[in-house]
Amino acid sequence: EKNGFDHFMLKEIFEQPNALQKTMTGRFDEESNKVDFQELDWTADKVNNWNKIYIVACGTAYHAGLIGQNAIEELTRIPVSVEIASEFRYRRPIIDENTLVIVVSQSGETADTLAALRQSQKVGAEVLGITNVVGSSIAREADNVILTMAGPEIAVASTKAYTTQVLSFYLLGAYVAQMKEMISDEYREQLVKGIQAIPSQIEEGLEHTKGLQWYAESIKDSKSVFFLGRGLDHAVALEGSLKLKEISYIHSEAYAAGELKHGTLALIEEGTPVIALATQDEVYEKMLGNIEEVKARGAQVMGVATEGNMKIYQYVDETCYIPATLSLLTPLLSVVPLQIISYYTALALGKDIDKPRNLAKSVTVE
Ligand code: F6R
Repeated sequence: EKNGFDHFMLKEIFEQPNALQKTMTGRFDEESNKVDFQELDWTADKVNNWNKIYIVACGTAYHAGLIGQNAIEELTRIPVSVEIASEFRYRRPIIDENTLVIVVSQSGETADTLAALRQSQKVGAEVLGITNVVGSSIAREADNVILTMAGPEIAVASTKAYTTQVLSFYLLGAYVAQMKEMISDEYREQLVKGIQAIPSQIEEGLEHTKGLQWYAESIKDSKSVFFLGRGLDHAVALEGSLKLKEISYIHSEAYAAGELKHGTLALIEEGTPVIALATQDEVYEKMLGNIEEVKARGAQVMGVATEGNMKIYQYVDETCYIPATLSLLTPLLSVVPLQIISYYTALALGKDIDKPRNLAKSVTVE
């Protein structure tokens, strides 16, 4: 059932184009090109009353939430906070009937996330669940549900569940923006076209993984690996770092690149691998500056950039290019090489990739 792949994780990485296609199927009205969420029972009145959105989740789903925060704020201008469920549930978050709480969970059974859902409903907030499992506790208890349609995810390390959650957020952001009449037809068209191109762009990227395998083998004996980025790239860096540590057991950290000089730079030594994401046009030059800072301390830098961004060549030791897309959509493309790098690093180290030590696929206890 691994379909010729050595591990479920690799199979699931390669399933992403298909999974994303499923996530978006039926979500676009063919005539108007508008995003359609027939399963949501929201009225324009309700949506217009929301003055705050919380996204609550754990682990990789939390990382998808960070992208969701960016996308929803960008598209709707509603303030969004993202919180780790185990933190959210034990403080007194300010939520009421004018708050939308979005809980994100692949399994739909994570104890802390489920508790956050119940607490939010108790104080009258509307709860939207984004989950992959039909009939899960979150799918049953949330007021509304978006199913990510990723198909079963067996590997403990989440890959296709993450990208389908991220895509769900883009669709949701566009949908709410439409309801609030805040998105121009022109931008919506660009966004929809961009989204529709993603599956084949991922496929394209997956045809060239040899270089990444070689790179993975080169970092396998490192003490520590750093992931840097700004904005959406920082959110993707967090996910890349979690993937690497959870299956290869190599220590890794993700940093907002601008934070380096506030402490982390002290950890960079001769030969320390740094994976620097530089896909965001608005902060591209700033990222190059940060790359120079780590290079000057001896780091070995792998740059992840958008095709056509040739300048980065002069700054890094190797480059991984992702296909060009809207700045907002890059996470769907840039996370894939990071998944591949962690897979091949763990493989080179002979780790139990699909079942990393100490971890469970579904965390139903606190
Ligand atoms: C990491 C991973 C975990 C889960 C987290 C939440 O690869 O899979 O961090 O994302 O345990 O699980 P769900 O999404 O089922 O609530």
